[in-house]
Amino acid sequence: MAKLNFGGVEENVVTREEFPLKKAQQVLKNETIAVIGYGVQGPGQALNQRDNGINVIVGQRKNSKTWDKAIRDGFVPGKTLFEIEEALQKGTIICYLLSDAAQIALWPTVQKYLTPGKALYFSHGFGITFNEQTGIVPPKDVDVFLVAPKGSGTSLRRMFLQGRGLNSSYAIYQDATGRAFERVVALGIAVGSGYLFETDFRKEVYSDLTGERGTLMGAIQGIFAAQFQVLRDKGHSPSEAFNETVEELTQSLMPLVAENGMDWMYGNCSTTAQRGALDWWKKFRDATAPVFKELYESVETGKESQRSIDLNSQPDYREKLEAELKELHESELWQAGKTVRSLRPENQPKAEAATAPAATVSIKEVFRQQALKAEPLVNPG
Ligand SMILES: NC(=O)c1ccc[n+]([C@@H]2O[C@H](COP(=O)([O-])OP(=O)(O)OC[C@H]3O[C@@H](n4cnc5c(N)ncnc54)[C@H](OP(=O)(O)O)[C@@H]3O)[C@@H](O)[C@H]2O)c1
Repeated sequence: MAKLNFGGVEENVVTREEFPLKKAQQVLKNETIAVIGYGVQGPGQALNQRDNGINVIVGQRKNSKTWDKAIRDGFVPGKTLFEIEEALQKGTIICYLLSDAAQIALWPTVQKYLTPGKALYFSHGFGITFNEQTGIVPPKDVDVFLVAPKGSGTSLRRMFLQGRGLNSSYAIYQDATGRAFERVVALGIAVGSGYLFETDFRKEVYSDLTGERGTLMGAIQGIFAAQFQVLRDKGHSPSEAFNETVEELTQSLMPLVAENGMDWMYGNCSTTAQRGALDWWKKFRDATAPVFKELYESVETGKESQRSIDLNSQPDYREKLEAELKELHESELWQAGKTVRSLRPENQPKAEAATAPAATVSIKEVFRQQALKAEPLVNPG
């Protein structure tokens, strides 16, 4: 295992060079990998394993669109596609990739098929870490581990097809056979991971729940909404408020930050933007730090998991969710965003260019002006 230095701290990382696919195939040659669930992670992980020459089957409830999708993807009923119970029985490694709520509901069934020496695999630490709430307590004589790709199943598949790998974290909760490490790492490579970062179940789920409620989705939407509202209250048009809050960030700055880091961004913008960003970032850090602390505590004490289990299992869950999503969708912020996105050159109908050159030129010109304004090396922010 390689030790890599991350900003002064050494961490264990497994690379594809030290654990190549050949080795993974060797470790898994006598295993049947049963991927239970064919939602988002299921297809990515099952297809990548199949293309990597691993003996993989899918367990999915019948008479659903998802069952049909598995068939369209080449899984064959009775050969590589089974009802969940049959797949559980055949699998020596059970990849439990149902939604977190369904994992709780199906647990009594899964438990029946966890005979000694089998392995139970997750892609999230949720079920095990919050086992007082989920009831997921595996028997002692099976291996329990996780590989959590740091992205959606769609990205996992897409990057695999491009010959790249998505980074994943991995963790071992229980090593009953003495083979848990080689099994989990072999699976990590087989599902299409690039690098595998060591963690444990608790840290995986705590950081994941904090991240999605924080800067990945919750906090970022909150900051967008606050800045947009201030600009609107001060008389800026919706398009101007949106461009300065979201469009410039996603279209121009974030790709550069992804490539080079925010430190580089700070060193490569106009002096005016640089001065302002250096003056203000710590104020934002200090203002939001107490909220992040509250969020982490809510995760750590099990409040977030309990809330998610309670609300997601209510019979009218879908309707209530639709109403919340509708509010977001219909907000001025995201309605303005819809129009701004439609002005991007790639979203202009091709026919328009041929039939209405004057209109096309003017829309393009509008966009060009916006793009120039958003050019980060000239004037970010
Ligand atoms: N989404 C991601 O990209 C992502 C990323 C990293 C980790 N993870 C983790 O990976 C795991 C799987 O997540 P996911 O997003 O792929 O799951 P998902 O799409 O929500 O899972 C849907 C699957 O669960 C089945 N299912 C739902 N309710 C069921 C029930 N009551 N009985 C039987 N089957 C049921 C669905 O079958 P039907 O279609 O028939 O309903 C479908 O096969 C989770 O632990 C998640 O935290 C997900």
